Amino acid sequence: MTGVAVHLNGLRRTFGTVHALDNLDLSIEPGEFVALLGPSGCGKTTALRVLAGLEDADSGQVLVGGKDVTSQPANRRDMGMVFQAYSLFPHLTAQANVSFGLSLRGRSKSSARAKEMLELVGIAQFADRYPHQLSGGQQQRVALARALAIEPSVLLLDEPLSALDAKVRVQLRDEIRRIQTEVGTTTLFVTHDQEEALAVADRVGVMRSGKLEQLAAPADIYLTPATPFVAEFVGLSNRLPGRVVGQEVEVLGTLLPLLAPASPAAVTALVRPESVQVTPETDGNGRVLTTSFLGPISKVTVTVGDVLVVAQVATDRLGSLTPGTPVRVTLQPVPVALA
Ligand SMILES: Nc1ncnc2c1ncn2[C@@H]1O[C@H](COP(=O)(O)OP(=O)(O)O)[C@@H](O)[C@H]1O
Ligand SMILES: [Mg+2]
Repeated sequence: MTGVAVHLNGLRRTFGTVHALDNLDLSIEPGEFVALLGPSGCGKTTALRVLAGLEDADSGQVLVGGKDVTSQPANRRDMGMVFQAYSLFPHLTAQANVSFGLSLRGRSKSSARAKEMLELVGIAQFADRYPHQLSGGQQQRVALARALAIEPSVLLLDEPLSALDAKVRVQLRDEIRRIQTEVGTTTLFVTHDQEEALAVADRVGVMRSGKLEQLAAPADIYLTPATPFVAEFVGLSNRLPGRVVGQEVEVLGTLLPLLAPASPAAVTALVRPESVQVTPETDGNGRVLTTSFLGPISKVTVTVGDVLVVAQVATDRLGSLTPGTPVRVTLQPVPVALA
């Protein structure tokens, strides 16, 4: 199966005075996996519902495979959907849930097809169980099987992992990616969780107030955020006082390249913890305040004058960086955004 292209063009949708979608443009390549990432209330669900035909836009267009489907009802749009949780029919077994999904779409209730789908998502052995006999992760696998059974042209997932515990969430997210790669269905995955979005998607669309701020590969979103909002929303940043000097910004005595030109002024620079280097030094410019063990990579908080700086360090260095240790804090000259 090969995927189709999806284009959302200039979508607007208001609820009273709220602009849930404010001229949203989004293009998804055939077979691509795009994650739509943004804070709660930024319009992610509305975008997905408009694409599915469950919600009408006030204006704008939805194109699927080059065809304008803007005025087509949901049941003619050929999309598979998975929601947050608890969307299975409680009185039907796993297999019957998948078969029922097929018959709802006017396909024959092929039990062979349903079995095949349950195998694809790795729970064929639970085909005869009812939803209450399945864990949250297993229920979401059934929901995914049901969505894929109809061979949808587009797969839509709205925070499908957010009701699951951390470990299952990571397992199932990797599974979703594996399965999507296998079937090749164009996929839009909505989440407010940046780690999830960066981990699964070919490209991440960062949304804010009904608009797309940036659509790019995960590494590009992280390393070259297009706007201060993206820089602050994705990943952690220190907010450090700086001064723009020409094409650079001086922060803690180091000149850092700027991601976007700015006029000379006192500014707040956004510096990633992994760009901060901390080395014990008797006459250093800082002092260790606290350390937190976080696995192989840990966190050290340092004071430089009255500025607090968070750094990432390899955990085996924590022994030499106990609280109170005088240190030299330096910054790697990677391009930074301004707040
Ligand atoms: N049916 C509705 N009636 C009124 N307001 C709505 C409705 N659906 C969404 N909204 C509002 O639109 C905005 C975007 O909502 P939503 O798309 O659900 O955001 P997200 O999924 O990113 O959390 C929010 O301010 C929300 O309160
Ligand atoms: Mg939502």
